Amino acid sequence: MYQIIDGKKISQEIKDELKEKTAALKAQGKTFALAVIQVGDDPASSVYVRNKKRACEYIGIESVSYELPRETTEEELLRLVRELNEDPKIGGILVQLPLPEQISEDKVLLAISPEKDVDGFHPVNVGNLSIGRPGFISCTPAGVIQLLKRSGIQIEGKECVVLGRSNIVGKPMAMLLLRENATVTVCHSRTRNLKEITRRADILVAAVGKPRFIDADYIKEGAVVIDVGIHRNEDNKLCGDVDFDSVAPHTSAITPVPGGVGPMTIAMLMYNCVEGAGRNLD
Ligand code: GUN
Repeated sequence: MYQIIDGKKISQEIKDELKEKTAALKAQGKTFALAVIQVGDDPASSVYVRNKKRACEYIGIESVSYELPRETTEEELLRLVRELNEDPKIGGILVQLPLPEQISEDKVLLAISPEKDVDGFHPVNVGNLSIGRPGFISCTPAGVIQLLKRSGIQIEGKECVVLGRSNIVGKPMAMLLLRENATVTVCHSRTRNLKEITRRADILVAAVGKPRFIDADYIKEGAVVIDVGIHRNEDNKLCGDVDFDSVAPHTSAITPVPGGVGPMTIAMLMYNCVEGAGRNLD
């Protein structure tokens, strides 16, 4: 029988720990706000932003919203980011992605002060992660590590295969697993003999961005499978990169979609706000 890794429960545990820490910081007079910037009204982004603001409220962090029109220029957004960088009340800055096409995501992410980059997307934080220095870590891969650790799954010495090489998930995921002393292989769209490689994995992290791409053929018997994907299927129901029904019986543990990795991203954003931004306070 396989274990279903309960991201909802684990994310709630983390948020409750952070709520206590925030109260302790407040008692020392240390307060800060998270600035949340959304440009345009992409419906998926609006849901994410709303959930992030709700999590702030739950934990006891103030959030300050900036809802900018779709036509906002790059210069206007950069000006706002620079103002927030200088504002001592703001501990963290989050610019929801994707941005409209007239704005360079690269330029905007680079403009956020690395000390306030709670998403962990700034090259300074990405670099710090890769050389083992402290810094903000991208929330989704950080959440995957917490799911594994808090489910009692050992990472050290394991063969880990990461499917996907995005800057937000695949690459930092590989770095984090390496930091936990795993043997790490990163696969992507040009990888040959993909199944041969994934079938070596003790821990398989799927971040391919294709609905139910991973079936039982990709899995070694008894592997741990972490599904980072989130899609809507033909019936408008949520599904992941993994075909859960065919894969789960071959695993020792697996994350469901929804209720696996998804809730962890926001919990780890809150972690970055409290443990990172909170700690930066005088
Ligand atoms: N868009 C999709 N995922 C994310 C995320 O983790 N952070 C931000 N800022 N935007 C996103």
